[in-house]
Amino acid sequence: MYSKEIIERFKNPRNAGGLKGANGVGKVGNASCGDIMKVYLRIDENEIVKDARFKTFGCCAAIASTDVACDLVKGKTVEEALKVTNKQVYDILGEMPAHKIHCSVLAEEAIHAAVEDYYKKKEKESKKAAKQDK
Ligand code: FES
Repeated sequence: MYSKEIIERFKNPRNAGGLKGANGVGKVGNASCGDIMKVYLRIDENEIVKDARFKTFGCCAAIASTDVACDLVKGKTVEEALKVTNKQVYDILGEMPAHKIHCSVLAEEAIHAAVEDYYKKKEKESKKAAKQDK
């Protein structure tokens, strides 16, 4: 049984879609159910998540979980975004069947993957800048 919040988020996700200017993109999947989540983050020079959006190919709980995870990271620093947990997602969504809890875990992993991608890109850029300074 799904909560009202899950149904509402599934029907009208607030953060669905791609994101122009995203500088952190994370893609994760669950091999057993086949669901795939892609999270896009736009992070500014002060390492604040200015916007977060997602594309999820998966179940109702997966879509609702990614939508909530995007809301949770907006306005946070990347460090804080890494502290967002599936428990926080779950608490907002409310009642979720036990076999669907992994959907909220996947949303947490998608955020982490997007932040990791941001750090990788940043490192690449700083190496490039260091080479040009030589
Ligand atoms: Fe696997 Fe939802 S059933 S992410």
